[in-house]
Amino acid sequence: MTEVIRGTGPLQEKVAAWKRAGALVGVVPTMGALHDGHLSLARAARRQSDRVIVTIFVNPMQFGNPEDLAKYPRDEARDLALLEAEGVDVLFAPGPEEVYPEGFATRVTVFGVSEPLEGAFRPGHFEGVATVVTKLLGMTQAGRAFFGEKDWQQLQVVRRLVADLNIPTRIIGCPTIRDPDGLAMSSRNARLSAPELAVAPAL
Ligand code: PAF
Repeated sequence: MTEVIRGTGPLQEKVAAWKRAGALVGVVPTMGALHDGHLSLARAARRQSDRVIVTIFVNPMQFGNPEDLAKYPRDEARDLALLEAEGVDVLFAPGPEEVYPEGFATRVTVFGVSEPLEGAFRPGHFEGVATVVTKLLGMTQAGRAFFGEKDWQQLQVVRRLVADLNIPTRIIGCPTIRDPDGLAMSSRNARLSAPELAVAPAL
């Protein structure tokens, strides 16, 4: 049974109890709309940790475009059923007010690695990712965190911030999971039209 927790306090009490019992805690940060790529991360976490938390938070800070944020697919009931089937212990699904309470005034900027490639096209995106990942690692207090290699630049940004800020979480990169036609699985694929889906595998 996967327990749904929305508050940091109750989550940290649970994690502290697990740790007192000697458990290694793994976390898979996600924005929901789960697919086999996410589930492969949950499986890796299951194999490499004693307790598994999956987080679902559609992080407004990493979206430059409000329309993109509004259209981001959300279906928590479906996601929860998928996590139950994978034996995930906790779904941590905080609201925006839990992650960014009134007065929140901190940003995590990772220079260098976040600047080229996607960073050059999406100003502020990696700052939003770095800030929320720092928050989620602090909120969950996990010993290991699992990220897909699909988002290669994001993985490098996370590795850099964890090293620079002495965050005691081991970052584990996991292989990209692809559709049979070779297209990397992504929650955003649901928004592609048939012609777009036909050309996307060329990437
Ligand atoms: O890769 C994602 O889904 C997000 O960027 C992450 C790491 C969960 C941060 O919001």
